[in-house]
Amino acid sequence: MRLFLFPLALATLLPAAAQAAVVASVDSPGKVLHVDLDINDGHLTWSVSRLGKPVIAPSRMGFRFRNAEQLERNLGLASTSTSTFDDTWEQPWGENRLVRNHYNELRARFTETTRGKRSIDVTFRVYDDGLGFRYGFPDQPQLKDVVIDDELTEFDVAPKATAWWIPAGEWNRYEYPYNRTPLAEVGQAHTPMTIKTDDGLYIAFHEAALVDYSSMWLRRVEKQRLRAQLSPSADGWKVRRTAPFTTPWRTLQIAPSAGGLYESNLILNLNEPNKLGDVSWFKPGKFVGVWWSLHLDEQSWGTGPKHGATTETTRKYIDFAAKYGFRGVLVEGWNVGWDGDWFANGWNFDFTKATPDFDLPGLAAYAKTTGVHLVGHHETGCAVSHYERQMDAAFALDEKNGIDVVKTGYVCDAGQIERQDLPNGPVLREWHDGQWMSNHHLRVLMDAAKHHIAIDSHEPIKDTGLRRTYPNWVAREGARGEEYNAWGNPPNPPEHEANLVFTRMLGGPMDFTPGIVSLKGRNGQQIQSTLAKQLALYVVIYSPIQMVADLPEHYAQHMDAFQFIRDVPTDWETTRVLAGEVGDYAVIARKDRHGPGWYLGAVGDEQARTLDVKLDFLPKGARWVAEIYRDGDGADWKTNPFAFATERKVVSASDRLVLKLAPGGGEAIRFMPEAK
Ligand code: NOJ
Ligand code: CA
Repeated sequence: MRLFLFPLALATLLPAAAQAAVVASVDSPGKVLHVDLDINDGHLTWSVSRLGKPVIAPSRMGFRFRNAEQLERNLGLASTSTSTFDDTWEQPWGENRLVRNHYNELRARFTETTRGKRSIDVTFRVYDDGLGFRYGFPDQPQLKDVVIDDELTEFDVAPKATAWWIPAGEWNRYEYPYNRTPLAEVGQAHTPMTIKTDDGLYIAFHEAALVDYSSMWLRRVEKQRLRAQLSPSADGWKVRRTAPFTTPWRTLQIAPSAGGLYESNLILNLNEPNKLGDVSWFKPGKFVGVWWSLHLDEQSWGTGPKHGATTETTRKYIDFAAKYGFRGVLVEGWNVGWDGDWFANGWNFDFTKATPDFDLPGLAAYAKTTGVHLVGHHETGCAVSHYERQMDAAFALDEKNGIDVVKTGYVCDAGQIERQDLPNGPVLREWHDGQWMSNHHLRVLMDAAKHHIAIDSHEPIKDTGLRRTYPNWVAREGARGEEYNAWGNPPNPPEHEANLVFTRMLGGPMDFTPGIVSLKGRNGQQIQSTLAKQLALYVVIYSPIQMVADLPEHYAQHMDAFQFIRDVPTDWETTRVLAGEVGDYAVIARKDRHGPGWYLGAVGDEQARTLDVKLDFLPKGARWVAEIYRDGDGADWKTNPFAFATERKVVSASDRLVLKLAPGGGEAIRFMPEAK
């Protein structure tokens, strides 16, 4: 009876499912991940399984256009091809010098079976630790001017999961504390968004190579089904392009541990190789500057009695940098335009005119005698077209003055970027992460590269790995940084950095500006961190340029801790995550790219935690001196944040170390080969 009834019931109740057909498949090189493309009643879907278990249930693909019928029905497979790629490439600087790029690729073309007969390409690159897919719009007369109102890509997560996410489409760009909720309670999220399934799999959703396209937010449609929601544009549509073109890659990093997500190179690998050629003019390193005092409100960006960017103050910072071997000195508020309400007056900024009390050429010449370089600052206040008109002259001025890193800024609410295509024309409002801004950032990078200048953008568009293609995009903010500990309400919670490692940091380097050893913000607001944790951040939060962000007089009070900040490099040969759980803790070991040392950073959350780590990342055979900077007995961010201890131990690769993290705590270790 059952044998006879079952197919009948299936055919009657599920006619659509009965017609679903796998039209193309691809496995990852080690057969860990498997991707199927199905056509179900003319609708194209994709699905993923890992080691035979469903990860993404069949999920929709397609587009809705402003100027043409939607493209998602009546699709038929026109052609497929597969290939394998395995190559190792070298980063000019980074978390790892060598990066292996090993994937199987599936390309498929789908053509409408009715009416328009339009075609769309879908390419999947499948790795053992994740996958990316993108659409291609081939050259075809029926769809040349492509005006996208909505991308219909969906992600229907099969196993039940918990998510770590920040909201998208809200007034702030990316500067939120992380939410931890069931995936089924996510609203609209930015990527990278990370989830952990109930059976212990970690998945991060993001995108790679966001060029000339609008950022993808993830909007939950129902249950655990998410849909791409493209950031808006002033023009009404989300994206406008001329075929042929390809979209950014939609990515999933998939790993059995949180550390596996961080160790994956998927995002970089899905970007194009370096298009700038020789970039050896950029030097990774640390910088100090007129910055934290501004956020403390002890000095001001604007001119007047509190002005921070004076010749005298800057000379002191140059001396401080020279004395302790830091390469850069950032000076904010050096140029004309900050007086009054700078938030509202982006159009007043002049990027080639210093304030009268700031002698740029004199300071640049002085810095040069000490081997220090000024770090430029271009805060646009979101008057972005105004900035674009000046930027070439500004970069030329910087170049003349030995400035080879410029920090840019886009302070305004999301959706309030000011675009003016023609002088005196109307001012349109764009989003920080829309198509127009994705192109703006590339215009800045290309022009800066001409002048041998690297860019560190604050209030940026999110990082999708473009540093591979444009290596001078060395760092960006794009999350809550240390500045929130000066004036944030609330400041960053103790778990913040353990969230960042497994979410924001999957995109790329962050200019977090660590090292606030005074542990106090504006008006004495307490930072939710111990002293040791501020040191650990230099290892845990990667950036090739790291700010030594506190005031020189504060470091003078903590010379023991300061030693680690002096020693820690910013460029790495290899990186390993020794332990981690999203939002709980992260232990990362990195090998100096230009010396024998290994460095370990551990950060925790609000709980005290003991972690037992193996030192098997150290080369075998040798003995190593571990210079340990840890939370002292009784340390607690709330009650005893300065309890701090340094000690030395001789260890080898076969040893283990027990790390005792205080509430809000951390630990930093430098391993050097023992002198013979
Ligand atoms: C916000 C940046 O994140 C911060 O570092 C900078 O000091 C201010 N904008 C002013 O540009
Ligand atoms: Ca900021």
